[in-house]
Amino acid sequence: MKMSEYRLGFIGFGHMAQIMFHAIDGARIIPRSQVQFIQRDSAKMKRSEQKHLITSTSMERLISTSDILLLCVRPAQAEQALQQIAPLGAGDKMILSILAGVPLSLFQKHLGPQAQVIRVMPNVASAIGQGMTILSARHASVDFREAASMLLAPLGPSLEVPEPLMDAATGLAASSPGFVFKLIQALALQGEKEGLSPKDSLTIAAQVFTGAGQLVAKGGDPIDLMMQIATPGGVTEAGFQVMEKTELAKHFQETVQAAIRKAKQFSEEYK
Ligand SMILES: NC(=O)c1ccc[n+]([C@@H]2O[C@H](COP(=O)([O-])OP(=O)(O)OC[C@H]3O[C@@H](n4cnc5c(N)ncnc54)[C@H](OP(=O)(O)O)[C@@H]3O)[C@@H](O)[C@H]2O)c1
Repeated sequence: MKMSEYRLGFIGFGHMAQIMFHAIDGARIIPRSQVQFIQRDSAKMKRSEQKHLITSTSMERLISTSDILLLCVRPAQAEQALQQIAPLGAGDKMILSILAGVPLSLFQKHLGPQAQVIRVMPNVASAIGQGMTILSARHASVDFREAASMLLAPLGPSLEVPEPLMDAATGLAASSPGFVFKLIQALALQGEKEGLSPKDSLTIAAQVFTGAGQLVAKGGDPIDLMMQIATPGGVTEAGFQVMEKTELAKHFQETVQAAIRKAKQFSEEYK
């Protein structure tokens, strides 16, 4: 089956589903007429149709006419959604789940052990094709894996991990943009305190994170790079001394650990 012939059905069309839809649609992988969605609230669904120019439908029709179902509800809504879609034949479809902390075992419990599910963890930067998508695809056919890889390509780079690492990957890749926004905001606020305009401060802060990230992404070693810019007795070194004293790196790791702990807790709850 050619990629352009697949029919997609979004179950849940909130924040992350919309980001994914626009990335896939923008890359013209599948005609918009072959993409449908459903939400719980019919008034919201009408608004989404007008805003995003795609068609909503009933759950029965969405499942019967889709080849790939993208499950995009919140983790707490998973069990109810699975109970709803199981009797409609969802177990025979290819399923991409973006739910944080919802293990494959819950899908198998509701949809049967044969269910083909790929767990996908996108992040918000997918909106500009700069996401970091983590996936686990052990229970998927070669065709489904290929289709998923083409669908996810417009979101940015992706990386496959074994399912037990999905919770760690969720904290690292899906939650961390939030922590980085906090750091960008802190840097920008300091710029303002020093007299720079809010706009200039934010431009500098965003580009500092983008540029530093790109240097590492292109093969730079963080330790070498730190040594290059920290001349002994110099300006950057003064900052590093405070980072050491306040154990900033350790606190940052604790922040990420808290997110990972929460994802693991969800995984236990939803087993
Ligand atoms: N936000 C992120 O950065 C991020 C990153 C990675 C993964 N995720 C994952 O993405 C998922 C969705 O997050 P979100 O931020 O997009 O949430 P959201 O904006 O609340 O969207 C959830 C959507 O699911 C719909 N829904 C819930 N139960 C349903 C049902 N039984 N049938 C049909 N539709 C149903 C809701 O409908 P209504 O609109 O009618 O309420 C809503 O459209 C979560 O599982 C999260 O773990 C999010």
